Amino acid sequence: MTRFTVNNQAVEYRLDPATPLLWALRDASNLTGAKYGCGTGHCGACTVDVDGRAVRSCRMTIAEAEGTVVTTIEGLSREREHPIQLAFLADNVVQCGFCVPGIVMTAAALLRRDPDPSEETIRRTVTNLCRCGVYPRLVDAIRRAAR
Ligand code: FES
Repeated sequence: MTRFTVNNQAVEYRLDPATPLLWALRDASNLTGAKYGCGTGHCGACTVDVDGRAVRSCRMTIAEAEGTVVTTIEGLSREREHPIQLAFLADNVVQCGFCVPGIVMTAAALLRRDPDPSEETIRRTVTNLCRCGVYPRLVDAIRRAAR
């Protein structure tokens, strides 16, 4: 049995300890905001927050997540939208939206560490892939959220 916290709730998974965190969240907890894109740690669609760090959950097993505090996009903004989400709305960042939860989680973790990141830092940190190619808008929106 693997135990950790997801979105402020204690969870126990009776799954193979090698199960990727992404699949435990999606299939066992029905938290489908984190997406499966590549499964190899490259695209970032599966990004969630683990102990304050943006983590690609397709590459972390639930055994590695034991005892951690996990936040998914569903838990990021319980009562009102996160400033990143508001900025994404204001700047019309979202197109198809598939990659957006992972981008928002990556950007939120960045802003917690660095409340006023430079454009270069944003580009270096938010390496999530977006097939719609909204990169310029998402950088502007993250800068807006930081203000
Ligand atoms: Fe995890 Fe692409 S699905 S990085």
